[in-house]
Amino acid sequence: MELKKIQLSIEVYRFAEELQTGDAELLSAAREITAAAYAPYSQFFVGAAARLANGAIVKGTNQENASYPVAICAERTLMSAAATLYPGVAIEAMAISYDNKNGKSNKPISPCGVCRQMLTEFEDRTGREMKIIMSGQKGEVYIVNTARELLPLTFTSVDLKG
Ligand code: THU
Repeated sequence: MELKKIQLSIEVYRFAEELQTGDAELLSAAREITAAAYAPYSQFFVGAAARLANGAIVKGTNQENASYPVAICAERTLMSAAATLYPGVAIEAMAISYDNKNGKSNKPISPCGVCRQMLTEFEDRTGREMKIIMSGQKGEVYIVNTARELLPLTFTSVDLKG
């Protein structure tokens, strides 16, 4: 038996002001766009903002529905929009933030499992890793340099071929 260890490195910043300019701008856009989320059921308002390889900025928010499973996360809303508006263009960096009714948004959240699956395939299909910037409306910021780091042992199209 061999033990395989997978390591995850996260850059931790105390607050947005410690980020480099492009990342700080993206985080600020993600924080702002939470206001466009449609989340009357969870009251958890998620915003995402991405910089594409062509310089375009694309944003996404979570969109819920009375039929709960219909809801789509901010990250997948963003990726669907980006792939439609700019087919084949890679995402360089994506910032994710949130807001909620109790006003406590001071620690980072990370993408859900379904979004991680779509994020990794987005990297594969565009041939480029994307930086993921995670933070609440204030406080610490986590950065990983590729979405794949968030989903070890990823299931991919290669696995379908056996
Ligand atoms: N949500 C996102 O939009 N992104 C995430 O990474 C986590 C969860 C949304 C889905 C749902 O509308 C609400 O947050 C509560 O789960």
